[in-house]
Amino acid sequence: MQSLYSNGFENIYDEMYQTFINYEEEFQFYSEIIKKYHKENVLEIGCGSGHLAKHFIHSSIGYNGMDLSNDMVLLSQKRNPTGTFLKGDMTNFYLNKTFKSILITARTTSYLLNNVSVQKAIKNIYNHLDKKGIFCFDFIDANRFFKLIKDGKTITHNAETKNKKYSRTSFMKPKITKENFMFQWDAKYYEIKDQSHILLTDDQSEVRAFTINEWQLFLELNNFEILEIIDRKSYAFDTYVIVAQKQ
Ligand SMILES: C[S@@+](CC[C@H](N)C(=O)[O-])C[C@H]1O[C@@H](n2cnc3c(N)ncnc32)[C@H](O)[C@@H]1O
Repeated sequence: MQSLYSNGFENIYDEMYQTFINYEEEFQFYSEIIKKYHKENVLEIGCGSGHLAKHFIHSSIGYNGMDLSNDMVLLSQKRNPTGTFLKGDMTNFYLNKTFKSILITARTTSYLLNNVSVQKAIKNIYNHLDKKGIFCFDFIDANRFFKLIKDGKTITHNAETKNKKYSRTSFMKPKITKENFMFQWDAKYYEIKDQSHILLTDDQSEVRAFTINEWQLFLELNNFEILEIIDRKSYAFDTYVIVAQKQ
């Protein structure tokens, strides 16, 4: 999946994911949380190609976006000329300002591949939050998702945009490592033209799923109090959203 974030492939991500994720609904969901806790100044980590950003920028909520991929940052900026976007790694960033809330959506936490990375990300997020600021993020729930892919599972997702048809075939299987609940995700991305599948890119990655207890412990150890744990349906994965407050 990582190969879709740069070198021109970010455009394919951009086209396909608009059909997988309803960004209007994402905005409704996250903006309600932000408003409920009166934290209307957001840093979105892993902003991708700037679709969720677009809704925030057109709302009364202050918004800054950050992504590891320079190509994604450029795409976000192109989509939202008035927005503020920068390149940064969630495990190691310093912005010289703080925010009322920090968001990580679309299971981007799956790229925190080991416990040291999780710890570093939470510390950076803590340092960039105002007093009593909120950290709101989602994650793939290992308990439910691993049951589904236990013996290996192939899933096809089709995406149709105005001018193009795409298809993604994913093979997913749990991969229990020394430390964490990882899974293998081998994906092939195709464009469908005249009924034939043309391979665009082939991606093999190892990504992480979490249990609720892991996040409870990480947050507790880093002085966050959990305000809410929300079970949320998503297009491909069993997902929880956690809202935690800086103590
Ligand atoms: C699954 S995409 C989600 C993008 C966007 N939130 C959306 O909903 O379309 C994950 C994004 O996180 C970014 N990313 C991956 N690792 C990151 C890291 N360590 N720090 C910041 N961004 C990261 C990727 O470049 C990619 O744009």
